[in-house]
Amino acid sequence: MNQIKTISKNDLNNFINKLIQDKNYEVVGVKSKDKRYVFDQLENASELRLDHDVTIIPPKKYFLPQYETLMKYDLEKQFEVKPNMEIKPRIIIGIHPYDVIALEQMDKVYLDSQTDDFYKKRREVTIIIASDIQNVSECSFAASMNTNTTDKGFDLLLTNIETKYAITIGSEKGKRLLEKYAKTEDAKEVDIKKIDEVRKKTLRKYKKKVILPKEEWSSVLVANYDSGIWEERSDRCIECSSCTMVCPTCYCYDVKDEVSLNLKTGNRIRTWDGCLLKDFTKVGSGEVFREEIKDRYRHRFFRKGNYLHERYGFVACVGCGRCSIACLPDIADPSDVINSLSHHKKSDDTSKFFIKQETKIAETNIIHMPRKATIKRIEKLTDAEKLFEIELDDKKPLGGKPGQFVEVSIFGVGEAPFGLASPPSDSPSFEIAVRKVGNVTSKLHKMSVGDKIGIRGPFGNGFDVKAMEGKNLMLTAGGIGMYPMRSLINYVLDKKNRKKFKQIIILYGAKRPKEILFTNEIEEWKKCDDTVCKLTVDRCEQGECWQGDIGLITTLFPKIRVDKLDSKNTIAVVVGPPVMYKFVIKSLQTMGIPDENIFVSLERRMKCGVGKCGHCQINGVYVCKEGPVFNYKEIKNLPEAFE
Ligand SMILES: Cc1cc2nc3c(=O)[nH]c(=O)nc-3n(C[C@H](O)[C@H](O)[C@H](O)COP(=O)(O)OP(=O)(O)OC[C@H]3O[C@@H](n4cnc5c(N)ncnc54)[C@H](O)[C@@H]3O)c2cc1C
Ligand code: SF4
Ligand code: SF4
Ligand code: FES
Repeated sequence: MNQIKTISKNDLNNFINKLIQDKNYEVVGVKSKDKRYVFDQLENASELRLDHDVTIIPPKKYFLPQYETLMKYDLEKQFEVKPNMEIKPRIIIGIHPYDVIALEQMDKVYLDSQTDDFYKKRREVTIIIASDIQNVSECSFAASMNTNTTDKGFDLLLTNIETKYAITIGSEKGKRLLEKYAKTEDAKEVDIKKIDEVRKKTLRKYKKKVILPKEEWSSVLVANYDSGIWEERSDRCIECSSCTMVCPTCYCYDVKDEVSLNLKTGNRIRTWDGCLLKDFTKVGSGEVFREEIKDRYRHRFFRKGNYLHERYGFVACVGCGRCSIACLPDIADPSDVINSLSHHKKSDDTSKFFIKQETKIAETNIIHMPRKATIKRIEKLTDAEKLFEIELDDKKPLGGKPGQFVEVSIFGVGEAPFGLASPPSDSPSFEIAVRKVGNVTSKLHKMSVGDKIGIRGPFGNGFDVKAMEGKNLMLTAGGIGMYPMRSLINYVLDKKNRKKFKQIIILYGAKRPKEILFTNEIEEWKKCDDTVCKLTVDRCEQGECWQGDIGLITTLFPKIRVDKLDSKNTIAVVVGPPVMYKFVIKSLQTMGIPDENIFVSLERRMKCGVGKCGHCQINGVYVCKEGPVFNYKEIKNLPEAFE
């Protein structure tokens, strides 16, 4: 049981003023602003409001700021970058229990095995003086979420018990602060009784309620994935993303580079991002993976009620009601949605949209902080594509498997993910092949041998080459899918490894003859024992020299001796543009290759690479952690995988 003290209202003011005078801390608290409430810096205890219903923005802004400099770099030096760890100790006063619980949820995401050091440091140097709810927001349903009170997650908790305040001590840090600055008395039995009475009184003030217990949100959502409710309600959505911005349990973010006006220095910054925005899933090729608003609208509720619930065990809604206040067309409130669905069917299979096979990430450096590397060799592949050999400056091998990817940083421009194009080796060098599509890729194409870049990774799971041993391999690549496939092909055809695999069939499709990559290597592959390599192009313009097949990649399938292939003993790997998968997989199934023998590598927008920023999600799955390589049998039932 927590130790409880009491303090007179006057002494509470004195305590807070003493905290404000202690220049070791920035003291922030709840203040009123235009009839509403905000967390802001306190100049005097008299500004503090502990009778607030809800603040406009939750205190998450102090742990994951809306705009944050992650690192600073000097563009005049080849590679000088420093993480921005100047984080000032802070005391936050007036956080309500639902926001305390939201922070505890955020801890699970940001302090997991791949810790976000920026968030961690802020958590460590922040003292939380929470306060029990006195007035309830019209839109809050915290009571029915059991988030209206809490007995942990704070350093101190204030409860207004009429003539004085009760202070529940939640940590040693809180206790020390009280001892240093406050005049308190031990709480008597009557005071403790009053805390209970005050909480019960507040409970009666709730007007909103969610009918379904939060443990059941997941099953009702899963059963109603295809319900008309998503389209019906999202029809009115103006795509402003206010609902995610004001939510204490929404923490997706974007990372961008900003350069000073004199072009000499710059910052890599992190900003809040929202899954309701169309660009959230947009990739360089222009593809948007949740194109329709109904899908983005549904994603927000599924992330809260199902995806994070399956992964971390909590419903990512604490019933604060902020989204409901912020949403002009009044469609954002989870209690409304869940109440409408509560009498609908429920599903027993709540993990249907989720697979958890996280890759252990080898990186131990600060999240988002790249390692310094040098471009060693550049080879032009086509007009829009180049191969880069990159060496890590610490001379340590990158490690990694075919199918994994790295995040490449060019300070002043940004960061982008690229698959490993070379097979694993013990050398510090590796290769990536890059198609010029936007800012980072265009800048890379302008760089020269000797230039410095940043590398994070390798990330993702890669191909399970061990499981491929003793099997025939059918490797199908379309367009730039050949980049990661080249890594796998060169691994399996390597003299050291070739005997481990049976027949190898390589099928490769490009749009035009001039877009065929690695032509010299393809000739070598064709010469390998028991290896078939077939190429096709979608079209051939007049004047282009091409004697090979013309047609989509699926036209190659009838040309291989399927009758001779032991399909049950064949592993198929497919990498290519999104549109290719459905048709190729159908052809593989027609050949009798079982779904569990088919592997695909999927592309999605990526920012963090470590399961935090939320961009790469396919339903409940993080492509950066559980992919990009997936077993088709496991992923085929995820509605967002091949749409
Ligand atoms: C796992 C994986 C492996 C990839 N492998 C390769 C490869 O080997 N070769 C290659 O040429 N391309 C590859 N891509 C695509 C490549 O990441 C994009 O073309 C690149 O991010 C575009 O960045 P940009 O700044 O030039 O374009 P812009 O359109 O200016 O992109 C702006 C930002 O959006 C993000 N973004 C844009 N497109 C993508 C995308 N497709 N995927 C993820 N984030 C994106 C990036 O963070 C980028 O900083 C891969 C993508 C993924 C997810
Ligand atoms: S649900 Fe409401 S707040 Fe959220 S994006 Fe749509 S209109 Fe904006
Ligand atoms: S979804 Fe709405 S009610 Fe739930 S925590 Fe977020 S802002 Fe509050
Ligand atoms: S969650 Fe950030 S890239 Fe996957």
